[in-house]
Amino acid sequence: MYVSDNKMATMCCLWLLDASLATDAAVAHFASQLQRQHQAQINDQYDDQVFDSEEKSIDHDLENEVESSESSEPSSDNDSDAGLTEEEVLLEKAASQDKDAEKAIQRATLVLRLREGINSLARVLKVIENGKGNVVHLESRPSKEQGVQFDILAKVDMTRKDLLALMKILRQSSTLASITILAEDNINVKNPWFPRHARDLDNCNHLMTKYEPELDMNHPGFSDKVYRSRRKEIANIAFDYKFGDLIPVIEYTADEVGTWTAVFNNVLDLMPKHFCMEYRNAFKMLQDDKIFTADKIPQLKDMNEFLKKHTGFTLRPAAGLLTARDFLASLAFRVFQSTQYIRHSTSPFHTPEPDYIHEVLGHMPLLADPSFAQFSQELGLASLGASDEEIEKLSTVYWFTIEFGLCKEHGEVKAYGAGLLSAYGELLHAVSGKPELRPFEPSITAVQPYQDQEYQPIYFVAESFEDAKDKFRKWVSSMSRPFEVRYNPHTQRAEILDSVDQLNNLMTQLNLEMLHLNTALNKLKMRSG
Ligand SMILES: [Fe+2]
Repeated sequence: MYVSDNKMATMCCLWLLDASLATDAAVAHFASQLQRQHQAQINDQYDDQVFDSEEKSIDHDLENEVESSESSEPSSDNDSDAGLTEEEVLLEKAASQDKDAEKAIQRATLVLRLREGINSLARVLKVIENGKGNVVHLESRPSKEQGVQFDILAKVDMTRKDLLALMKILRQSSTLASITILAEDNINVKNPWFPRHARDLDNCNHLMTKYEPELDMNHPGFSDKVYRSRRKEIANIAFDYKFGDLIPVIEYTADEVGTWTAVFNNVLDLMPKHFCMEYRNAFKMLQDDKIFTADKIPQLKDMNEFLKKHTGFTLRPAAGLLTARDFLASLAFRVFQSTQYIRHSTSPFHTPEPDYIHEVLGHMPLLADPSFAQFSQELGLASLGASDEEIEKLSTVYWFTIEFGLCKEHGEVKAYGAGLLSAYGELLHAVSGKPELRPFEPSITAVQPYQDQEYQPIYFVAESFEDAKDKFRKWVSSMSRPFEVRYNPHTQRAEILDSVDQLNNLMTQLNLEMLHLNTALNKLKMRSG
């Protein structure tokens, strides 16, 4: 769950790609049982009344200590170093240089081990808040340590002085078994955690709360209690979903269907001139199968069956926006995490966050195209075990391709990015001749800053999906990950290719495929000869 994020946000799934993705591989594995607690925490933020009552239960001893710490100077006594970790000693030395260094804002990753239930997290957060800290990322998991209920990973921004004071205060709290500062970019590449099987995606459900209707005053549903309640109802369905479950059916209201019809008809108007051939082909198949019609919102389960039939991609309900690491990891398993709620009816052609219409009309048709599906999966595979910096680059590539990509088709520029296919305003802007169009080159695209509040000033144009894949593969091979990951569709597992046995197995499979290829070629030659 993201408490705040200053860097990103807009309209698509990965529009909320958090550049500061703190999902440290060593602590990124969270048990699915926590979903309800996550949801309860998010709901606490939604509901002012609930939040007020939480505040009243704050541990006042801790609060008082933080308040008193605000006026106190950090100790320069060397004795205070006793029991400090290396990172804390370095922090203390950095803070002691001068007043400016002391007041400099430091981003720190804290690992807190809670003795009590998840509710005690609220007390800790209050202490951080009182210490003028800003929590930018928060995750939790059941602890494996005896006597500790939860491990919490929190990234906070606060002055060095306040951070040091915070560490001392929290160490005195009986709520916490321990507290540790992790060094930045501390990623354990020897034994990274990432989902190894499609069922592990049950643990990849870390939501970002930005642009939720309850939290954003500019959201069209901000003051609509009925809409907010509907959003929660649909989010709850996703929270309950587990790998292997049947995808629940949503009974969409007449209001929601009306919004779908408006956007669907708009897509029908724009598609012939501006959408890429692969999209048009998949759209027609969906129409032929009676899944795409103007008067009915397709069910996620029907879209799932359609995609499974064509490329093996599957869909699972998501309660909201996922972190980039989780979202990309899903793609590695040919799984697309989809919201199921519909944008507010007063704003059919714009939504501040990705809704089901964006997923269905923007993303899903192309996932039925084998070449595009492969490209999506390769982006996902490259993310498994990647460093935070690499996740940011992969997210940026995702942004400029799967969300806002353009491609060439018979000398013309067509759209294939979901943020263009499902949002006609940006689509018309992209092909207006005003923005700059650059050739897709992953090493350059990956570091291009992008616009997430308004229309893009720059788009990248791929020669074709095949060309984009070739370039992407070459670029990915230069990334830092010291192992290769392959997806085994038979077992639905992501396999690390780092042993002779695994390479032998792969070689055996490839030899079998080559045998099929040779036999088929020979038969074709005999038939034609
Ligand atoms: Fe999207």
